[in-house]
Amino acid sequence: MYAGVMKDNVTTRLILENVSHDYGSLAVLRNLNLAVMHGEFLVLVGPSGCGKTTLLNILSGYIKPVSGNVQINGIIRTVYQQDGLFPWLTVAENISMSLRDVKDKSLREKEVKELIALIHLEGFENHYPHQLSGGMRQRVELARVLAGDSDILLMDEPFSALDYQTRLRMRYELVRLLSKRKRTVVFVTHDIEEAAQLADRVLVLADRPAHISKELKIEAARPRNPTDDAVIEATKTILGELGLHSSVIKEL
Ligand SMILES: Nc1ncnc2c1ncn2[C@@H]1O[C@H](COP(=O)(O)OP(=O)(O)O)[C@@H](O)[C@H]1O
Ligand SMILES: [Mg+2]
Repeated sequence: MYAGVMKDNVTTRLILENVSHDYGSLAVLRNLNLAVMHGEFLVLVGPSGCGKTTLLNILSGYIKPVSGNVQINGIIRTVYQQDGLFPWLTVAENISMSLRDVKDKSLREKEVKELIALIHLEGFENHYPHQLSGGMRQRVELARVLAGDSDILLMDEPFSALDYQTRLRMRYELVRLLSKRKRTVVFVTHDIEEAAQLADRVLVLADRPAHISKELKIEAARPRNPTDDAVIEATKTILGELGLHSSVIKEL
């Protein structure tokens, strides 16, 4: 487990060994083995209800699996589908909440200002979440989790509540922010195109009890478009792995 100060030469951020989990009689995860490398962008895809959120909660240490080992090397921040902003705090105050440990007030203010500039929300510092669009709120959410020191972002379908165009913009936004503030990312989605556009590596989870049915590395440069050959190719491979070939879809 994470213990105090990390060394910079960490190569593996998260390790699961033979992890299985069930909720009573419902077997959810079966014998998962997984290593997430430092700096990697790992995407988990799988059908709804297959155990993706459970797996993320195990990776964060929030759930202790019924069996197996979990090793966490670093400080984790988590992003959910619905933003985790406090509705009674302004944009600046929400971001500042992540910096409570920074005692120097002027340092804290400088960091908040820098992050607001980074997400292009200058002028909205004193707005409350309800005064922002869904996309703007998720940008504040990204600033909130990128504020201060952390090593690992766990993201659970962070863009799935947004409309398609906003979702596309958020993918670019995330890639851009990570180029400025490097993090190891585990990103859960049921959106296959999103997986193909963002990932260094995609793990396809088979239905319950979930296990890894396919691993796919995508080495194309970033930022990627949904229409890039590498992204389309990866999308096809993942669809095939999920049993959603075009021939199958015609029969549905
Ligand atoms: N706390 C819980 N208690 C009982 N069953 C749960 C609990 N959380 C999730 N489940 C069940 O476990 C399965 C996997 O859930 P989840 O990890 O949320 O899947 P996903 O995120 O892939 O949609 C689902 O069938 C869900 O109903
Ligand atoms: Mg889920």
